[in-house]
Amino acid sequence: MYKEIIIENLSEMKIFAEDIGKTIFPGFLLCLEGDLGAGKTTFTKYFGASIGITDMINSPTFTILKIYEGKNTLYHMDVYRLMGIGMDFELEEFIYGDEICVIEWYKNIIESIPDERLVIEIEIIDLDKRLLKIEGTGKYEEIVEKITN
Ligand SMILES: Nc1ncnc2c1ncn2[C@@H]1O[C@H](COP(=O)(O)OP(=O)(O)O)[C@@H](O)[C@H]1O
Ligand SMILES: [Mg+2]
Repeated sequence: MYKEIIIENLSEMKIFAEDIGKTIFPGFLLCLEGDLGAGKTTFTKYFGASIGITDMINSPTFTILKIYEGKNTLYHMDVYRLMGIGMDFELEEFIYGDEICVIEWYKNIIESIPDERLVIEIEIIDLDKRLLKIEGTGKYEEIVEKITN
């Protein structure tokens, strides 16, 4: 299932992230793509807050994986620096685990990513406006079905 929606500003992004937050289940896998500054980390902050993460979520670029404990456990990865390395078996333990996992730049480790996943690609239209390309496979299909603009 594939859908495109337009997000006009930050507050619409927050609402969208919260809507996705309502759909989580154990092992939830959310893959993010989009240029630097597109809003992957911003989305993750709103999403994390909505699922009960009270710690400040920031860009994990220099750590690859950050683990946040709250009402849910969130694994937040930024695998930008793993480009061209491909498989990362140590990360797979987290990607295939029972917690909530968000991966920025997931295409860099595509060989380690299950086919069943929710993908959100963020395209910058202008300063505040974004085009979201959303694709859900397997049990993520119905999440995409329910998304409205
Ligand atoms: N609609 C929007 N959605 C997400 N971010 C937005 C939006 N409008 C403006 N921004 C700004 O764009 C920047 C996105 O940065 P960030 O989330 O770190 O991007 P990325 O993680 O994709 O590199 C932030 O400064 C954020 O405030
Ligand atoms: Mg980021």
